[in-house]
Amino acid sequence: MDVRGKIVVVTGAAQGIGRALCERFHAEGAAKVIAADLNAEGAADVAASVGGLAFSCDVSQADEVAQMVDRVQTDIGPIDLYCSNAGILDKDPDFDNAASAPDESWARSWAVNVMGHVHAARAVLPSMRARREGYFLATVSAAGLLSQIGSATYSTTKHAALGFCEHLAIAHRDDGIRVSALCPQGVDTAMARGADARTPALLDGLLSPQTVAEAVVQGLAAERFLILPHPQVAQYMRNKAENYDRWLGGMIKLRRASRG
Ligand SMILES: NC(=O)c1ccc[n+]([C@@H]2O[C@H](COP(=O)([O-])OP(=O)(O)OC[C@H]3O[C@@H](n4cnc5c(N)ncnc54)[C@H](O)[C@@H]3O)[C@@H](O)[C@H]2O)c1
Repeated sequence: MDVRGKIVVVTGAAQGIGRALCERFHAEGAAKVIAADLNAEGAADVAASVGGLAFSCDVSQADEVAQMVDRVQTDIGPIDLYCSNAGILDKDPDFDNAASAPDESWARSWAVNVMGHVHAARAVLPSMRARREGYFLATVSAAGLLSQIGSATYSTTKHAALGFCEHLAIAHRDDGIRVSALCPQGVDTAMARGADARTPALLDGLLSPQTVAEAVVQGLAAERFLILPHPQVAQYMRNKAENYDRWLGGMIKLRRASRG
């Protein structure tokens, strides 16, 4: 997909990767960029900078997502590209206990990192299917392919998000709908700055959000399912597939090293 002339929605748009996507899509000549975020002020600021529209929207709430999609499609037009980018990272409260996150953290992570995509797909699929076109991009993470040392909730929900994206891609290709899963490692945003400094992924090539946006534009142009701004992630996936136990051994060593 070439985003020129397209109507694009980005969630989690107030800062970080979402903001960079809005700015890049605008620079590419998108017809309208809609910036949606829990942080209404931040979304408004981004929308103003790209001549777009802002929505205050909590992606974990099905009705808020449905209302936003409905308003965009009624007032502006059919959504060509929906970027389901909002996500959260809760660290394990006890680094040495993989089951230490409380139920509230599991519920919150599931609601945003998984159901955010499900609510979005439910809202945009009817129109995309009727038009026999449309693009759904989900920001997942390399943690959804590999793992996230220090966060069981993030590792697990990002794996689930990837599972949903695969399902979406398989089920709706024949409807003319394309799907991509954006899976970066460390990106220099507030989320990364809030993560544990010991997180190994942050030491393996921290990218700017703008570099990630560039990878997205290229991935969309190629209509590639997996968008990997860090090319080394493809090799890590191959290592995992080839020999799971050796890969786990490597991750265990990384974790040990990250404990200092
Ligand atoms: N930064 C990284 O290293 C990294 C790596 C891989 C994947 N990701 C993923 O990229 C996406 C964007 O992360 P980021 O690094 O830009 O983080 P960020 O924390 O800088 O920005 C996230 C944005 O999402 C918004 N948000 C959070 N919960 C929301 C909700 N329920 N509804 C609507 N908006 C919500 C926040 O207000 C914020 O503006 C996330 O899905 C994240 O998991 C980040």
